[in-house]
Amino acid sequence: MNKSYDVIIIGGGVNGCSIAYYLAREGKRVLLLEREKLAGKASSAAAGMLGAQVEVTEEGALFTIAKESRAMFPSLQYELKEHSGIDIELVQKGMLKLAMNDEEARHLKSSIAFQQKLGERAEWLAPEQVAEREGQLSDALMGAMDIPMDGHVNPARLTHAFAKSAVNLGAEVKEYVEVYSLIMDGSVVKGVETSNGTFDGEHVVVAAGAWSKRVLEECGMTLPAYPVKGECFSVITDRPLLSSTVFTETCYLVPKSENRLIIGATMISNTFSENVTVGGLFQLMEAAARVLPAVKSATFERSWSGIRPQTGDGLPYLGQHPNYKNLVIATGHYRNGILLSPITGKLVAKMIQGEPVPGYLEDFRLDRVKEHAKG
Ligand code: FAD
Ligand code: GLY
Repeated sequence: MNKSYDVIIIGGGVNGCSIAYYLAREGKRVLLLEREKLAGKASSAAAGMLGAQVEVTEEGALFTIAKESRAMFPSLQYELKEHSGIDIELVQKGMLKLAMNDEEARHLKSSIAFQQKLGERAEWLAPEQVAEREGQLSDALMGAMDIPMDGHVNPARLTHAFAKSAVNLGAEVKEYVEVYSLIMDGSVVKGVETSNGTFDGEHVVVAAGAWSKRVLEECGMTLPAYPVKGECFSVITDRPLLSSTVFTETCYLVPKSENRLIIGATMISNTFSENVTVGGLFQLMEAAARVLPAVKSATFERSWSGIRPQTGDGLPYLGQHPNYKNLVIATGHYRNGILLSPITGKLVAKMIQGEPVPGYLEDFRLDRVKEHAKG
């Protein structure tokens, strides 16, 4: 007889692992299936920014969950350390979003006004104030938005910390097991068919990142979503060139430990190819050298890419399938899946347990728009 689980989670990225953690904490019998290795895809390609204010620029449900999720990290780092022994390397030294011309300065000033109105900390810094904070930045900039609350983590460590904590709380995690299809019985999902046999579950969660659409298509369900490749590289410098993360319209630079800077990222829609192109790196290197000229003397370390899960309208899908109530979809986190992972895990655990969930989840329902435009 097949072993039966309360919840089967498809996908061992940061979101699948977070969901496993929050369910295991509640004593659920959880099985997480990953077709390669944990954190092998977007969740280790990410720069790890917790950019609630730098990345989300409009009021709405996404801004609300981004802030809620960001606020979870300070205590989460200790929780995960206790359960897994893994340090997620949370850094809370803020971000600077630079204006390189007058138009960008105007946009940032109106963004600051909207964020302050909502009670968020954000200030305009004149060029000389930016230079005082970050002496290596180009003197051609027009000012910056100072965002003290946006930090960053190590995304691969975060993913492993969620997974290991879940396992230590009783979850089973199986790597190198590919889910081929969902086993359906009328309007109920009974389990999954995999490269390692079938598994039965009371609930199934699809958290397969940019591949979620394919998993659902195997059973005739559609999900308006598409992949967006991002290329990144890292360099090592003799001394720290930045203390805060620096974000511009064309690149970002994230200072990590041991004088490492992560520089990203390109945006290439509708491809699952993970190749890193010379053109992509060239574009990033030019952009980085424009804002931080000293980066030209840094030692190149490595480059990589990942596939972001994007949706038709840019909002994630977080909720029960309209026709299969015991099937939950958690994907489409696009550029913010690391930031949004704690709230995703927490909310999916609540949904599955039938607990009340915040009203803003209506905006992330699967059937919110009948026909999304393809990107
Ligand atoms: P993934 O990490 O892609 O995981 C999905 C998993 O599902 C994969 O491991 C895959 O192998 C598995 N899978 C797929 N199909 C199957 C199947 N049939 N059976 C079993 N397993 C399956 N976000 C931020 O918040 N901050 C950042 O600074 C940031 N920077 C980024 C930089 C780059 C270059 C990129 C590419 C992304 C960045 N992101 C960032 C976005 C973030 O990485 C993603 O939103 C997030 O990792 C998505 O996580 P996920 O768990 O949904 O998907
Ligand atoms: N959030 C940064 C990226 O997706 O590149």
